[in-house]
Amino acid sequence: MTIRNIVVVGAGVMGRGIAYVSALAGFRTTLVDISEKQLQDAYEYAKNTSEKGVQRGKITVDESLNLFNHLHTSINLEQTVKDADLIIEAVPEKRELKKNVLEVTDQHAPKHTILASNTSTISPTELGSYTTRPKQVAVMHFFNPVYSMRLVEIVKGLETSQEAVSIIQQVAEKMGKETVEVNEFPGFVTSRISALVGNEAFHMLQEGVATAEDIDKAIRLGLNYPMGPLELGDLVGLDARLNNLKYLHETLGEKYRPAPLLEQYVKAGRLGRKTGKGVYDYTDKGEMVKK
Ligand SMILES: NC(=O)c1ccc[n+]([C@@H]2O[C@H](COP(=O)([O-])OP(=O)(O)OC[C@H]3O[C@@H](n4cnc5c(N)ncnc54)[C@H](O)[C@@H]3O)[C@@H](O)[C@H]2O)c1
Repeated sequence: MTIRNIVVVGAGVMGRGIAYVSALAGFRTTLVDISEKQLQDAYEYAKNTSEKGVQRGKITVDESLNLFNHLHTSINLEQTVKDADLIIEAVPEKRELKKNVLEVTDQHAPKHTILASNTSTISPTELGSYTTRPKQVAVMHFFNPVYSMRLVEIVKGLETSQEAVSIIQQVAEKMGKETVEVNEFPGFVTSRISALVGNEAFHMLQEGVATAEDIDKAIRLGLNYPMGPLELGDLVGLDARLNNLKYLHETLGEKYRPAPLLEQYVKAGRLGRKTGKGVYDYTDKGEMVKK
């Protein structure tokens, strides 16, 4: 099966990034959201990212112009999925929302369409059970920022067919990504490790072990991580991080109980880069304010 039309549902942090790499790879891409504002912001994001890509020599001017021939936006999910070959769902990590999007897409998309989810934690078997086509449902897990992170983690549910996995793999490769195939288990490989490290850093911050800057610096320079766990949490979104931890706590047990300080930050609306304040403060352009 040849994939030509991709629909990305949810134009937030991840959806806009996925739509960007998809359109850049030459897929006819439609980004769908319930919010016009999110779609406008996503379009601006694509403009800024492609401009920076050209300046840094990552993409050519032609590629950047071509990208906008392939990128479309819509607020009408039912209509948009009618000619989709692959749908990538990137709505918030809430079961009810994902269930609703999968049910609607399953009902209105053609029979051959593959339904992929960018969930960080939720079981692909469960996601498949919300549809009439569990063989064509899998997790296609991208990383933030999508244009530069090289991995796509593909997670199979109980009934996911090998054909669906290999199509998703080919699409990811055309988007310039490497893939790993993972069997279903809560948190897959990456979310499980990342949640644990991020939570531990929050515990340390709460205990006064070191400042946020020094915790991040220690992990970057001492353990050779490209980013510290607290700055990564701000990039991912502390609400997303908390959701993941709650799910892993529920499914895998005590060691994933979210740090109280993380819960407090989320309650206070300190969600990270996207709200201008998380562990660190950010300017309107999303740059960290150095102390
Ligand atoms: N943030 C990360 O770094 C990251 C990394 C990997 C995976 N994920 C996963 O990706 C998914 C999306 O996360 P995010 O951080 O991009 O979320 P986000 O909150 O930034 O964006 C979600 C978007 O979905 C839209 N939305 C909500 N309900 C919708 C509906 N019914 N139909 C269409 N659009 C709808 C919202 O308006 C919003 O624009 C989650 O499952 C998350 O776990 C996130």
